[in-house]
Amino acid sequence: MKIIITKDYEELSAKAAEVLLGVVEQNPRAVLGLATGTTPLGLYARMIADHRENGTDYSQIRTVNLDEYKGLPEMHGQSYAYFMRKNLFEGLGITPGQTNIEDGTAEDAKQECARYDALLEALPRDIQLLGLGSNGHIAFNEPGTPFGSGTHVVALAESTVKDNARLFKDISEVPRKAFTMGIRQIMQAKKVLILASGANKAEAVYKMVKGEVTEKVPASVLQLHPDCTLIADEAAGGKL
Ligand code: F6R
Repeated sequence: MKIIITKDYEELSAKAAEVLLGVVEQNPRAVLGLATGTTPLGLYARMIADHRENGTDYSQIRTVNLDEYKGLPEMHGQSYAYFMRKNLFEGLGITPGQTNIEDGTAEDAKQECARYDALLEALPRDIQLLGLGSNGHIAFNEPGTPFGSGTHVVALAESTVKDNARLFKDISEVPRKAFTMGIRQIMQAKKVLILASGANKAEAVYKMVKGEVTEKVPASVLQLHPDCTLIADEAAGGKL
């Protein structure tokens, strides 16, 4: 794993933008695997600023997102589909037809997982962007998820529900289940970029990079990826 430690979140976001823009410049038809959460917001803001200033073209880009809350429709203000539209796609002129995410309202969850598995096979990702859960999760693959997993429905760990409660009015509103891309599929991306910011991620960063490769720490699987880069700020990288 290539490791870049930055002095702060601003520098982390700038370095991450360099990587993403590099992929798009090299291949204007690239497939980008994207993440939600707080960590990529600085990166997304930079991509939007670059698009405005330099006209980087996203008209042929396709995107695939990691996960979606089960039960939330795409127009719901807390859905990940909504998050992506508001924080990235609208700013880059990326149309809904270019994007892919699990359908949180799918009645047949098994069928929805099979649909997403087939889609991921058909759309090999040039890069997969990841955030890191404080418990070591990647996407919503919580500790104990088999490394061979495909798209599945997950019951969120209590720590994840607590971490995500800050984005809801009340913790009781946080959905308890989500659709997530599996670990096997994260590993299939040609390139992986994982971002970690803040002292609350330091333990997870340490276990991911220096710990044993174990399903107890889902992110530790990234030690086995042939082209994975971690960008962490000093606070998140503090235990390395
Ligand atoms: C988001 C996702 C999650 C987050 C992780 C970190 O699509 O799959 O794994 O990347 O929970 O979240 P933040 O960035 O909010 O700390």
